[in-house]
Amino acid sequence: MAKRRQLFEGKAKVLFEGPEPGTLVQYFKDDATAFNNQKKGTITGKGVLNNRISEYLMTRLGEIGIPTHFVRRLNMREQLIREVEIVPVEVVIRNIVAGSLAKRFAIEEGTALPRSIVEYYYKKDELDDPMISEEHITAFGWATPPELDEIMAMSLRINDFLTGLFLGIGIRLIDFKLEFGRLWEDDQMRIVLADEISPDNCRLWDLKTNEKLDKDRFRRDLGGIEEAYQEVARRLGILPESGPNDYQGPETIQ
Ligand SMILES: Nc1ncnc2c1ncn2[C@@H]1O[C@H](COP(=O)(O)OP(=O)(O)O)[C@@H](O)[C@H]1O
Ligand SMILES: [Mg+2]
Repeated sequence: MAKRRQLFEGKAKVLFEGPEPGTLVQYFKDDATAFNNQKKGTITGKGVLNNRISEYLMTRLGEIGIPTHFVRRLNMREQLIREVEIVPVEVVIRNIVAGSLAKRFAIEEGTALPRSIVEYYYKKDELDDPMISEEHITAFGWATPPELDEIMAMSLRINDFLTGLFLGIGIRLIDFKLEFGRLWEDDQMRIVLADEISPDNCRLWDLKTNEKLDKDRFRRDLGGIEEAYQEVARRLGILPESGPNDYQGPETIQ
């Protein structure tokens, strides 16, 4: 394969120059970090699974009209994406209390929220990604009010769709994190979904047993991390062993 110029190495992925202008190659590593890099490790095969899972979910979202950066998967660990200007805001959507929300307000994990909550965090590792409000986002110019409206509306739509998709395979979507970017086409700019959607940035609990099928297994030293990620891919019908030609589609739960 042709050598690619590396543009950026993040905690979980590497971005390379893409084959055409305006494209990038996103390479998924097995590296895992938690608590803003204080805990580091590797999860064997995670990159392969996240590449597949993110491909699958972004494709499904594309089909319902959510614009995403995803173009196509290139191989086991790489996907072609459109280069965007990342909005430096991490959008967290919560359906059920867990993680930092449980801690900050001393609410038991697993408590259902009466309505979904959207939170924003400033994407800045040096500052530990502080929580911010819409006011900070527009005052500091990280996104304009119309952009923020678009991000909020898309996030809620993504939440509704993914909640149903996961429910169909016996998984509860507890919460998840999204990143968006600006994509220019001719003179038009639009906001698109970027980064990845995978068990690295979603909390996914088995519907029947509440078993955690996500990165909390790594954060909390629960073991069985590889198996959990594999189980998510298996239920989605996209285990890497089954090549793109024998895509089985999601397994439905009675
Ligand atoms: N389509 C895209 N165009 C440009 N940058 C992107 C795109 N999708 C994701 N990114 C950025 O690439 C990086 C992905 O690597 P990752 O390991 O997740 O980094 P980080 O350590 O910042 O979380 C992130 O900083 C993310 O914001
Ligand atoms: Mg990241």
